[in-house]
Parts: sequence; C-alpha cells; structure tokens
Amino acid sequence: MTDDLAELRAETDAALAACADLRAWDVVRVSVLGRNGRLTALLKELGKTPAEQRRERGAALNRLKDALAEAIESRRIALEAAELETRLAAERLDPSLPPRPMPGGLIHPISRTMEEMAAIFGAMGFEIAEGPDVETDWHNFSALNIPAHHPARDDQDTFYLTAPAGAPPPVLRTHTSPVQIRTMLERPLPLRVIVPGRTYRADHDATHSPMFHQCEGLVIDRDITLAHLKGCLIDFLRAFFAAPNLPVRFRASYFPFTEPSMEVDIGWDRKSGELGKGSDWLEILGSGMVHPRVLANVGIDPRAWQGFAFGMGIERVTMLKHGIPDLRPFYESDIRWLRHYGFNPLAPAMLHEGA
Ligand code: DAH
Repeated sequence: MTDDLAELRAETDAALAACADLRAWDVVRVSVLGRNGRLTALLKELGKTPAEQRRERGAALNRLKDALAEAIESRRIALEAAELETRLAAERLDPSLPPRPMPGGLIHPISRTMEEMAAIFGAMGFEIAEGPDVETDWHNFSALNIPAHHPARDDQDTFYLTAPAGAPPPVLRTHTSPVQIRTMLERPLPLRVIVPGRTYRADHDATHSPMFHQCEGLVIDRDITLAHLKGCLIDFLRAFFAAPNLPVRFRASYFPFTEPSMEVDIGWDRKSGELGKGSDWLEILGSGMVHPRVLANVGIDPRAWQGFAFGMGIERVTMLKHGIPDLRPFYESDIRWLRHYGFNPLAPAMLHEGA
C-alpha cells in the first residue's frame, strides 16, 4: 500500500474510533465514501495515473475501498448496539416500585358496593339490567300488582311529574322493582339480573334521603323454588359481609309483587354493631317468589315459569359493612369524608378477595 493509502486507512480508523454516536459516524462515512469523500477523490484521480502503474494502483484502491467500507459498517453496528444499551439502561422499569398514591379521585362507597354486588352476583350468572329514573305509573306500581288506591302506595309517597292530559302522571321511581317488569318484557327467558340504581321517595331525615339507591334482583326460570331464593341470598350475604358463618333468617312478610314474601334478617350485636355476633336480628332486604299475577301482567305463563325477586337498600348495607354511622354525608361531597371512606380505584372489587 502506498503511503497516501495507508494514511487514509489510519486516519479513517482513528476517526471511526473517535466518533461517539451515529451522527458523528455518518460525518466520517461521508468524508471518506461520499461523493466528495477522500476515497472517491482518489478513485477519480486514477485516470491521471501513468498507464504502467494504473493497474496496480486500481487494485490497491479497490482493496482499500472494501476494507474501509467494512470498517465503517462494523463501527455502525457497534454504535447502534451501544445506543440501544444506553436506552435500555435509562428506561429500566422497576416492577417492585409501589404504585404512587392517587393525587385525588377515590371510588365512592355507593359505587364500591354496586361493584361488589356485580362481582358476587356476576359469579352466580346474573347480568346487570337498567331502567329509567322517571317511570310510568304502570311499571312502578300497577304491573307490580300495586293498583291505584292500594295502601302499599302510601309507603312510597313520592314525586310525581306533570302528566300529559288524561294520562297517569309519570313518577320518579320509588324502587328498582319496575326494572323487573322492563326486563321480563325485553329479555328472553330464562333470565337472571340485578338492577343497581337510584330511587326516590319524599322522605328526609337522619336515616332517609329523598334520593337513595337500591339493588333489585330477579331470576325467572322453569322450576325455580324458594330453596333457590334462600341459597342465593345466603351465599350473597355471606360473601358481601365477608362472614362465612353469618346467621341469616327468613321471616314471612308481605309485598304486593311476591307470594310468598319474606323479609331477610342477618344476625348481629345491636350494642357493638358487630355482624354475625350476638343475638339480635337486623332487617336487610325484602324478597319473595314472583307473584303469578306479575308474570301474567308481562305475558309470561306462571304455570311454565317461576321466579324469585329481592330488593335491598345500598346505603344501608354499605353503612353496616363499613361502620358508617350517618346517611347524610353520602351525598354531601365533603372531600374529607370521601377521603376517609373512599376506595382505591386501582383495587376494584374482586370475588376472590371475598369482595
Ligand atoms: N321494592 C321493595 C321496596 O322498595 C323491595 C323489594 C321487596 C323488592 C321484595 C323485591 C322483593 O324484589 O321481592 O321496598
């Protein structure tokens, strides 16, 4: 190799070694192999070489070109690998790092209870159904076997809206039970639904709010019996209150839309408020076998299909489960109360935790 070629080789090697990143590398590459690069210039000058030396010089230049191209390429590979290493090191993820506390935003206890109910009943094959807050008199009362002037309407003295002339006034639904009617009219049988949602009654004191929440349940199938109702509700209550031996009592009662009807009580200690302890009973929900007349009202043959239904107050079970003493702060949006009783949105209700 002649001196000038050896010099180009040595200088290129040094320049490649000195470049710290791909941008510097590209400058070196262009300065050697580019259109105005040093090697390109030497190749262009080959024509001026005296004929007797041209062959040898040409061969030497070609060998140098191959060697330089290879050196440049291997430097590129090395630089790319180094850049990847640096990025991987900088972007390293530490899976043991605990989640940062949420700057704000917690799940309201009402929503949490609804999620837990969805998790527990979901595992039993229930779907969620919804209906409007503004109901027709028929869905809220008549179809549920509560005719006009029936004394059961007094319990649900409520908010009526202005009616179109001649029609019964629409009503803010007094319970989630009208969604039983809607679901039976809309969905194919058999069906299993729960209906968590808002309800309204003209009541306002320390334990009643004009707007509150209920969760309805409805199962319609062939050969459904009281045993299904009892098994389902006992399982639910024990899972919800995370108390595997929670005493549950079924007490005969009356609802116009079920026959027979039962109030469901759980065992607790009135003094300490502890659930599953002591010898007192606490009423938790209403339930019963769907009244044949209700089935007939939506065109279902009561001799072919039976079902059970239940309804419970969401605030009430939430207060019991979490030891919340007062109903009113549920709706006051007091950030201190929400921080105290709210739930981490990153830890949703899951059945395997006993909800
Ligand atoms: N709708 C009733 C109420 O608000 C609660 C209820 C009782 C619902 C018995 C039911 C049931 O589905 O079977 O007081």
